[in-house]
Amino acid sequence: MMTACEYRPGLDGVPATQSSISFVDGQNGILEYRGIHIEELAKHSTFLETSYLLIWGVLPTREELADFKHEVQTHRRLKYRIRDMMKCFPESGHPMDALQACAAALGLFYSRRALEDPAYIRAAVVRLLAKIPTMVAAFQLMRKGNDPIQPRDDLDYAANFLYMLTEQEPDPLAAQIFDVCLTLHAEHTINASTFSAMVTASTLTDPYAVVASAVGTLAGPLHGGANEEVILMLEEIGSVENVQPYLETCLERKSKIMGFGHRVYKVKDPRAIILQNLAEQLFEKFGRDHYYDIAIAMEKAVEEKLGHKGIYPNVDFYSGLVYRKLGIPTDLFTPVFAIARVAGWLAHWKEQLEANRIFRPTQIYTGDHNKPYIPIDERN
Ligand code: SDX
Repeated sequence: MMTACEYRPGLDGVPATQSSISFVDGQNGILEYRGIHIEELAKHSTFLETSYLLIWGVLPTREELADFKHEVQTHRRLKYRIRDMMKCFPESGHPMDALQACAAALGLFYSRRALEDPAYIRAAVVRLLAKIPTMVAAFQLMRKGNDPIQPRDDLDYAANFLYMLTEQEPDPLAAQIFDVCLTLHAEHTINASTFSAMVTASTLTDPYAVVASAVGTLAGPLHGGANEEVILMLEEIGSVENVQPYLETCLERKSKIMGFGHRVYKVKDPRAIILQNLAEQLFEKFGRDHYYDIAIAMEKAVEEKLGHKGIYPNVDFYSGLVYRKLGIPTDLFTPVFAIARVAGWLAHWKEQLEANRIFRPTQIYTGDHNKPYIPIDERN
């Protein structure tokens, strides 16, 4: 028999599923995908190989990986109707809203509810991994008044995205670093957007609706939207000298410092450590960003004031500095997060379908009962 549970705001500490996709040890700063440490994957894997690992649970053989890459490559183009729909979007709109609309619109083109068919699952995985980057890049070019450019078959996943976005073939180091960024962002247990994806998946709707709902959830500043907010914050701080006064004001107003704190990590996020290192590699080759000095001073100051509460940089703190150096506009940082997290959302979608029960939690009702209906003329 079910017993009544204590109410935990934000479902803090409440298990929402059983999963073998990823693991976080927040006290020791450990993140594993399918049992493999994130540091290993960042060093040796690629985003598409890691996506395969997350979704199908094993590292692919050379042949399986080649087939998967080829399938993704052949589905990168957008349907012209999606491109035409995007032309109607206001250029001042946020790219996350554009991405959410486009992801949902993909569902219009494909059959629904063949969820028990592995071929349907694979096709949806391939299409979403392939087309989401093209959508993000297309929106960027279209809002500048340009036609989107076609993907290039000779470029791999990360390099092709940077090419479609900037219309220039990227430097190999930049492309390789961007691929590592995607790997680092691909999955992170039951975060808010993944939970959103799982709830949507549990109704047995189509995978495009699953991803669209997750994109909408990722967009908020407490979740994926924080990477954009971090850069806006560094811009506002403006100088190393201003770090301390800025922090004092935040603390007085009890406002959250963007890019810091995490529900699970009580130490520096392992992804932030790797991202900081990637930023340094880029600065060494392409020149230092003066916001990096502000960021370092901010990390030190926050640690002094809030380290005792377990508040340290999370994944979003250093990622924006990497993206800036790669020439990615600030309001595309969260869509770039989404490009990567599609892999995790799809892994959880597939896992959810394997042992599905619709999400339907309960509540603790705090309202009234048996109130009379007051006719409108008698209300005051
Ligand atoms: C991501 O869940 C995931 O895995 C997400 C993610 C992923 O890969 O999917 O890792 C990606 O979303 C990273 C988080 C990005 N968000 C931000 O950087 C926004 C700033 N951070 C916070 O708002 C906050 O830390 C959260 C949202 C990340 C976590 O929120 P919690 O777990 O609900 O924590 P809380 O807001 O209840 O804070 C607990 C305490 C409070 O102090 P007390 O009232 O107990 O004294 O810590 C303080 C908070 O005031 N605190 C902060 C803070 N974060 C927490 N104080 C100042 N600045 C902060 N950033």
